[in-house]
Amino acid sequence: MVTDHAKITAEGVNVFYGAKQAIRNVSLHVRQDEVTAFIGPSGCGKSTFLRTLNRMNDTIAGARVEGDVRLDGEDIYARAMDVVQLRARVGMVFQKPNPFPKSIFENVAYGPRIHGLARSKAELAQIVERSLQRAGLWNEVKDRLSESGTALSGGQQQRLCIARAIAVDPEVILMDEPCSALDPIATARIEELISDLRGRYAIVIVTHNMQQAARVSQKTAFFHLGELVEYGDTSAMFTNPREERTKDYITGRYG
Ligand SMILES: Nc1ncnc2c1ncn2[C@@H]1O[C@H](COP(=O)(O)OP(=O)(O)OP(=O)(O)O)[C@@H](O)[C@H]1O
Ligand SMILES: [Mg+2]
Repeated sequence: MVTDHAKITAEGVNVFYGAKQAIRNVSLHVRQDEVTAFIGPSGCGKSTFLRTLNRMNDTIAGARVEGDVRLDGEDIYARAMDVVQLRARVGMVFQKPNPFPKSIFENVAYGPRIHGLARSKAELAQIVERSLQRAGLWNEVKDRLSESGTALSGGQQQRLCIARAIAVDPEVILMDEPCSALDPIATARIEELISDLRGRYAIVIVTHNMQQAARVSQKTAFFHLGELVEYGDTSAMFTNPREERTKDYITGRYG
C-alpha cells in the first residue's frame, strides 16, 4: 500500500545543458492530493526541473537528464515509456497562453481525438464541454465554440489551455508561471481554478509570486542555483523557514 500518496517521485535528478549543470541532485515527491509550488530566483532551475517530470527536456537539444523519476512507481525514463502518452498523463500549461490557431472547440477536441478517447462525435462534444466546465470557461464560450481560440482574452486563453490539458484526462498538471502574463482578475480566476482542481489532479505550479504560492499550494519547494534548498508544508515554509537562503528569498532580500 502506498502510504505517502506520492504521485511522482524524483530521486537524485541532475540536468545538464551541454557541460553546464542546471539541476543538482534533486529529490522530491509530488503528492496526489496537493498543489506543490516551485519557487526561487530566476535561473535557479524551476522550469528545468518541472520539465523533467514529463520529459519535456527531451525536446531541448543538448539537454541531458540523470536520475530516477517515477509516475505511480513507473520509471518515466524507461526505454519502453511512450512519451506522447506520458505527456497526456502529465499535462503542461505554459507561461504564455498558447492556444492552437484553431477554434475553441478544436483546441480542446484535438487531444482526445488523437488519443482516441471519444467513440462518437457526441462523446467528443461531451468531453469538450466537461473540460471547459472544469476549466471554468464554459459559460463564457458555449455560444462561440467555433470562434478562434486566439480571439479570447489572455485569461480566457489560459483557461482554454487548462481545458486542453484536462481534456485528455491527465493525472498530473504542470503549470509554469501560468499567471505571469495575466492581470490580477484573470490571475485570481486561475488561482480559484487551481483550488477547484486540487484533489482531482496532482498539480505543480512554478511561480514568482510568494502570495500566490501561499494561497494555492500545500507544499512548497525552494530552489536556488540548481539545488532544492528546502521543501515542506507551505504554511511552515512561509512562517518559519528552516534555511537562511529560504528566509532571504521569501522576505525579498534577493530575487
Ligand atoms: N535551453 C537551454 N539551454 C541552455 N541552458 C538553459 C536552457 N534552459 C535553461 N538553461 C539554463 O539553466 C538554468 C536554469 O534555467 P531555468 O529556465 O530552469 O530557470 P528558472 O528557475 O525557470 O528561471 P525563471 O524564473 O527565469 O523562469 C539557467 O542557468 C538557464 O540559463
Ligand atoms: Mg522558468
